[in-house]
Amino acid sequence: MEERKQARLEERKAAVRRCFAQVLMRPEEEIGDRADFLEDLGGDSLDILDAVVELERVTGLTIPEEEYTQCRCVQDVAELLCRLEAGEKAAPAGAEREPAPRRWITRFEDTPEYAELQARLATMEEGRNPYFVAYESPLRDTSLRQGRQVLNFGSYNYAGMSGRPETVEAAVEAARKYGTSASGSRLLGGEKPIHQELEREIAEWKHTEDALVLVGGHSTNVTFVGNFCTERDLILYDVLAHNSVQEGCRLSRSESRPFPHNNPQALETILQGCRDRYEKVLVVVEGAYSMDGDIAPIPDFVRVKKQYGCFLMVDEAHSACVLGETGGGVDEYFGLEPGDIDIKMGTLSKGLGTCGGYLAGSRPLIEYLRYDLPGFVFSVGISPPLAAATLEAIRLLRREPEIMQRLHDNIHFFMQEAKKRRLNTCLAGETAILPVVVGRDPDRFRLSPAMLHRGVFVPPAVYPAVPRGRARLRFCVISEHKPEQIVQALDALVDAAASLGISLPE
Ligand SMILES: Cc1ncc(COP(=O)(O)O)c(C=O)c1O
Repeated sequence: MEERKQARLEERKAAVRRCFAQVLMRPEEEIGDRADFLEDLGGDSLDILDAVVELERVTGLTIPEEEYTQCRCVQDVAELLCRLEAGEKAAPAGAEREPAPRRWITRFEDTPEYAELQARLATMEEGRNPYFVAYESPLRDTSLRQGRQVLNFGSYNYAGMSGRPETVEAAVEAARKYGTSASGSRLLGGEKPIHQELEREIAEWKHTEDALVLVGGHSTNVTFVGNFCTERDLILYDVLAHNSVQEGCRLSRSESRPFPHNNPQALETILQGCRDRYEKVLVVVEGAYSMDGDIAPIPDFVRVKKQYGCFLMVDEAHSACVLGETGGGVDEYFGLEPGDIDIKMGTLSKGLGTCGGYLAGSRPLIEYLRYDLPGFVFSVGISPPLAAATLEAIRLLRREPEIMQRLHDNIHFFMQEAKKRRLNTCLAGETAILPVVVGRDPDRFRLSPAMLHRGVFVPPAVYPAVPRGRARLRFCVISEHKPEQIVQALDALVDAAASLGISLPE
């Protein structure tokens, strides 16, 4: 019996080693039983995912994410596979031992999480905390900071709607007419005609039957992803999906797991192995990703979701008001059919210039959410001034395609000028997020303030938001920028790097 078990373990080890070798593109002989996947073999979190997908394919087993992430090497994974095969659950570490009594914490200052924050803040130079900077103006092509106009390449005001006279006027008028708050849940406390008008406009703009507006973009994802699925369902999400999607997964009663970034084939492999075990499967991707500026291959995801009978949700935070002739997002950009995406989610805080989130989809779905989605039912309605400004913003986008034209002229001009200066712009090219790689992580601390010194604000993105050693300055271009401002910003970057002795990776 023992011998049979040992032989099975050896077989599993060989399979895991083959899989690691394939994913890491290394010879099998280099992969020892105890070599750590991350530390010794140089894998990263995306490689881990690729390995899981491949192992599930070759073994036909479903590998629970929380158990796989405890494994560090071939030996651990092989033992896990044997346990799964035998139908045993992994024993939680230290399960047999009596837990030691915990130290009581009664003051928040004594918590480890507060100590961690203090340690992080201490790494910033005196007076150099780059966070929570107060601006004395809207964030448009320029902004007023400590009494000084700077070029602003750090805002999500993609279509220039925040601070535009028409949206400001609409908000002022609505505040006079309806007050500044919805003063309660719309379900119980009642709504305003402006709420209904806004939802009709969003539904038309997004080519759906209906839409629902909530008070925050982040909370829209948490409440929808957190409540759409039951314990009989499954959520599959792109590994780079926003924190709000991941928080929703943590809240949900259903199983959830990530799949490799922008990889419909990997999604298909997972579905092939497990689709029949679930009733609903929710697939969540973003239209455009905010760290690399890349666009998701939505038509491929639509094909997979149709073949495997899934619900496809696309978070359009960075693709609506950016892609498509009227900023309609990925369906306008790819020319999709109205029903190809089941849940079109977007934020109001970026291209639409206000604050809130929307869900657009079929009439039955939205009707259900209107009566049952906790983050809508048990929360206040969007404030009337914000609803009015958002409505005006969408109407402007639909009426004036030149807004999107200007944005895209700016994106192309930025790319052209970046290329002239041999800058590395990751996967960017068609969205308003144009990252420039600056290399080693500490470099970004010095470059961002040096740019500001030259009158240009551009925020850094660093590990863990992006891979180690791939720190970047994340330029966000908006429709209101002028070509000469783009030239000035890129010249400032080259000049700042040269004066700090930083060579920018090509
Ligand atoms: C992809 C994505 N989804 C959702 C959100 C949350 O939106 P909001 O900031 O409007 O709450 C963000 C915010 O950055 C985002 O990038």
